Amino acid sequence: MRLLSARLIISLIIGVMLVSLCASEYEVWVGKRNLRRDLQRRAEVLAESLAGNVERDIERGAFQTLRKTVQHFAHRENLIGMAVYDPQGHVIAITNDLAPRMAETPPVVLDTLKDNHEADAFQRLSGQPVHISVLPLYSPGKFLGALAIVHDAGYIRAQSLRIWHETFLSGLAQVVLIVLITLLIVRWSFEGPIARTAHWMRALRTGHMPSPRIGVPDVELFRPLAREVATFAQSLNTARTAAEREARLRAEGQSQWTAEKLTLNLHARLGEGRMFVVSNREPYIHMRRGKSVEVSVPPSGLVTALEPVLCACDGTWLAHGSGTADRETVDRHNRLLVPPDDPRYTLRRIWLTKEEEEGYYYGFANEGLWPLCHIAHTRPIFRASDWKQYQAVNRKFADALLEEMKDSEKPVVLVQDYHFALLPRMIKQKRPDARVAIFWHIPWPNQEAFGICPWQRELVDGLLGADLIGFHIQSHCTNFLQTADRVMESRIDWDHFTVQRRGHTTTVHPFPISVDVTELSPEGSGEPVLDGRSGLLKSLDIEALFLGVGVDRLDYTKGILERFLALERFFEKYPRYQGQFTFVQIGAPSRSHLKRYHDLEAEVEAEAGRINWRFQRDKWRPIVLLNRQHSHKEIEPYYKAADLCLVTSLHDGMNLVAKEFVAARDDESGVLILSIFTGAARELHDALQVNPYDIDQTAEAIRVALEMDPEEKQARMQHMRRVIREHNIYRWAGSLISELCELRLDSDERADGKTHLGAAAA
Ligand code: G6P
Repeated sequence: MRLLSARLIISLIIGVMLVSLCASEYEVWVGKRNLRRDLQRRAEVLAESLAGNVERDIERGAFQTLRKTVQHFAHRENLIGMAVYDPQGHVIAITNDLAPRMAETPPVVLDTLKDNHEADAFQRLSGQPVHISVLPLYSPGKFLGALAIVHDAGYIRAQSLRIWHETFLSGLAQVVLIVLITLLIVRWSFEGPIARTAHWMRALRTGHMPSPRIGVPDVELFRPLAREVATFAQSLNTARTAAEREARLRAEGQSQWTAEKLTLNLHARLGEGRMFVVSNREPYIHMRRGKSVEVSVPPSGLVTALEPVLCACDGTWLAHGSGTADRETVDRHNRLLVPPDDPRYTLRRIWLTKEEEEGYYYGFANEGLWPLCHIAHTRPIFRASDWKQYQAVNRKFADALLEEMKDSEKPVVLVQDYHFALLPRMIKQKRPDARVAIFWHIPWPNQEAFGICPWQRELVDGLLGADLIGFHIQSHCTNFLQTADRVMESRIDWDHFTVQRRGHTTTVHPFPISVDVTELSPEGSGEPVLDGRSGLLKSLDIEALFLGVGVDRLDYTKGILERFLALERFFEKYPRYQGQFTFVQIGAPSRSHLKRYHDLEAEVEAEAGRINWRFQRDKWRPIVLLNRQHSHKEIEPYYKAADLCLVTSLHDGMNLVAKEFVAARDDESGVLILSIFTGAARELHDALQVNPYDIDQTAEAIRVALEMDPEEKQARMQHMRRVIREHNIYRWAGSLISELCELRLDSDERADGKTHLGAAAA
């Protein structure tokens, strides 16, 4: 009631009253009409039943009888009397009571005498409301006069008043009832949810993090409000967390990259310049599930890092539209605004035919370049037809990008990965004013290894179109420069890591990618993980004391089979751990359309099965293989609960699983076993580093990890957490884009040169 103002209640009462009054008025009108009709009918019937006798009496001249007949009917219900007139309007007979009141012939009688037709009228007679019904009288061939029947009509008014009274009272009762019910409905349906929302928002404002679910009912009516309020709350929380973090870091004299810092920094650098990102995988995929469409974000650090920048500068992300409902969710220019909950930048989807996808993505990128760049002993396959599609798709993306940036001055372009080696050159040829960087997310092998690619010159030339090329680590940069030196006519500056070719300079620098560590508190929450561990093991129907975890796309570069062999060796060497230690391998099927990947899935399954068969007993198994896509939220409990995490890639550009594991360990426990062939190994020195091909060494590392002192575990984890807190994903994006924006472009130099010459001539 508190929330409903008096004005609302008064409006409600007036509204309902008006409706009720109109309804009563109508009911009275209908009642009155029916009563009048009824009276008219009765008068008509009476007149018609009398007419025969009256006509006979007149014809016979029996006026005495006529008067008697008339008098005889004088006492009927509501009948005041009746009168018989001759054709001239003179009274022939009249009832006694009526005679003094009808001294004059009423106009309705004169009408009938004049026109020879029936008539009736409601009128007043000596102040009394009456009804006069007049019937013409005939004998065959002769007009005899008229019979007038006069009824008292006063009861109609009385009855109408009664109807009015009754309907008004029942209307009044309805008004009260409707107002009460409405108030109750409002109170139950609106006031409760509104009060809960207000309470929830107050808690949010005062910093007492309320439950993430806003307490309004899940009904259509409230959904838009709930959605907006939830998005608003999320933004507020993010802003508050960022402000707190900034304040904390300022107080500690540290400067950590955050999404906010990245946004501010780059907004200032980009100025009016717009930013464009190109990648094969899109940041939002729409999939059809039955009748509904679901949107998902591929688990990739790239979206986390680049989204704040794109949002800040109204950017555009171009990517292959690969979702089953992608076409239904774009406009006629193949664009849509994302993120879906808080649209801030544009996603432009590019459509590929089956042949293009087969040749460019599966063929050249994943059967050619992927194994070429990862030294993992899977032979690259180079088909001329795939190369043709790779060129065509790079051209398709370049055309779309040029179209998207046609109205932007000095655009900034970030091309992602090995799918688009030719794109930088294609863009710079048409738009020399654009700042173009490409980040190569996978390793670059040494020049001999790269040299087997039949199109190495074209690939290197395409890449050298860029102003900036980024790799994860210095040795990939060095390998690339050596390759460029060998295959191209170019000048390498080994001091500044630049390549000069046909007047264009390309800078080649390392930018180690990382994860979002904004959730990391400096001290760690120290929450015990044992509950989580026993809960997870129970859900897997396993009994064990120790838990290990591995998380990978099912890819031959990840060394999953070598990892399983190391586990087998560990159980052979240290049988006391049989029945005690279980390793959970989360393996997301990937690129399964390719035979090599398809075969690998079967091999991994068979190997896990073989080892399990050899050792398992009762409710214990050495390896649990969970081969399906898991979200980050599903994986995190495993990271948090595990005694150790195994990353045994045979070759990996960076490997973010290693960093995600460290980021998740706010209890500062757990041991990371990390392949020396990952980029991450250059930063995470406190991991137990292993050569994954050395099965005994990895088996030994598992034992060391399980038996490590808690203090040593903590010291190692603390150090690794410090490293990734400092070198997080925002720093990656920040330094890559800052460096790109700071480069002096050849087009600027030429423009400067012209100005100089112009000035000299003048
Ligand atoms: C690697 C590549 C990425 C790629 C990811 C997943 O990390 O560097 O470009 O997106 O694997 O592979 P997919 O082929 O499924 O996109």
